[in-house]
Amino acid sequence: MSKHTVLLLGSGGRESALAWKLAQSDNLIKLYIAPGNGGTEQYGENVNLSPLDFPAVADFALSNGVTMIVVGNEDPLVAGIYDYFAGDEKICHIPVIGPSKAGAQLEGSKDFAKGFMMRHNIPTARYLSVSAENIEEGIDFLNSLRAPYVLKADGLAAGKGVLILPTLEEAVDALKEMLGGMFGKSSATVVIEEFLSGIECSVFVLTDGVSYKILPVAKDYKRIGEGDKGLNTGGMGAVSPVSFADVSFMKKVEERIVLPTLKGLNEEKLTYKGFIFLGLINVDNDPMVIEYNVRMGDPETEAVMLRINGDLLDLLEGVASSSLDSRKMAIDERYAVTVMMVSAGYPGAYEKGKLISGLDVPSESILFHAGTKQTPDGVVTAGGRVIAVSSYGNSKDEALARSFATIEQIDFDGKYFRRDIGFDLD
Ligand code: AMP
Ligand code: GLY
Repeated sequence: MSKHTVLLLGSGGRESALAWKLAQSDNLIKLYIAPGNGGTEQYGENVNLSPLDFPAVADFALSNGVTMIVVGNEDPLVAGIYDYFAGDEKICHIPVIGPSKAGAQLEGSKDFAKGFMMRHNIPTARYLSVSAENIEEGIDFLNSLRAPYVLKADGLAAGKGVLILPTLEEAVDALKEMLGGMFGKSSATVVIEEFLSGIECSVFVLTDGVSYKILPVAKDYKRIGEGDKGLNTGGMGAVSPVSFADVSFMKKVEERIVLPTLKGLNEEKLTYKGFIFLGLINVDNDPMVIEYNVRMGDPETEAVMLRINGDLLDLLEGVASSSLDSRKMAIDERYAVTVMMVSAGYPGAYEKGKLISGLDVPSESILFHAGTKQTPDGVVTAGGRVIAVSSYGNSKDEALARSFATIEQIDFDGKYFRRDIGFDLD
């Protein structure tokens, strides 16, 4: 393979984990992270650049000899960064790892994603897309469903666009509010879905558009409180592997979801060279798709990267050059877990700027910074999710015990974490 100078876009724990893995490659000349966080300079150089400012990203890439751009979060992909590079002869030699704008609709529009799944016979909940014009039809559809009711803003809503309502009355009110602009333009169309009951997991696929590799499966924990209670967060922890996602379940995932998804992308000429995140629910041992994302998950990446044996840069070069099938990847048999340390008050209002101590204490864990910042006084908190503490173990409990022991050593005013990550898995 060739040597690469990589520009990684993003600033969270996911990007820290991608940076950690990329930095292990013998073929990495230099890694830039834009904008990065208080921990990413362990792996490369932070660059003060907005991932959504495509002209600035292109200028930086050209003047610094960047040979690959890895996109961590969905916004630049949905906004078309792939096409921006592919369509300009001055920069089209720099591959962007991710889908085209058309492919990114799988995450950017829930209505598009549902239509795609229908067209390609991919198992998912029954639904109806509603806009202001057919609100009556929407109410009829709600009437035909059983409680609880699932309403989804069609467009990106920073992970907050899904409402689950316990009664029909609340669902009808919420539908009207959403269509009335509750999430701005994102909820001008609302997807109403049948509620599925089961346990969820996240499956990640890396594809060059034709061949693919299925990465280690993970389960994340979204709620702030133990026992999965309270408000949704960006993610409080993750476990990989997932006990119920056994060989037979994963075979169904591959046959019923991964292959038809790739076939559908090809049939619809949706250029896709990057990560596909399948948010799945296990309904009586059958996988169904809750959502597609067009990037890796956060915090799943902070566990999944630990279990990839192989050179991530080599895999990504395979994606860029349509030769992924010739690149090697193995999966580490050990467990990997991540536990997120968050700021007091999160996901509501929280304070920033709290000094973090204990970061240099030796431990058996890997610290992936998320919301942190370097200051002359040291590393301080700069976000709701502060640091993901990841560990290996021969069992889930052994890995978790390591992360918890590390968390004991790290402190900042108001530190909070969930002690029950993995509680619902064997
Ligand atoms: P999403 O943003 O699509 O991942 O939805 C957020 C969360 O809402 C999911 O992780 C599920 O826990 C839940 N959810 C979404 N759709 C459904 C559904 N059809 N049935 C049950 N739960 C759902
Ligand atoms: N952990 C879920 C997500 O990244 O969307």
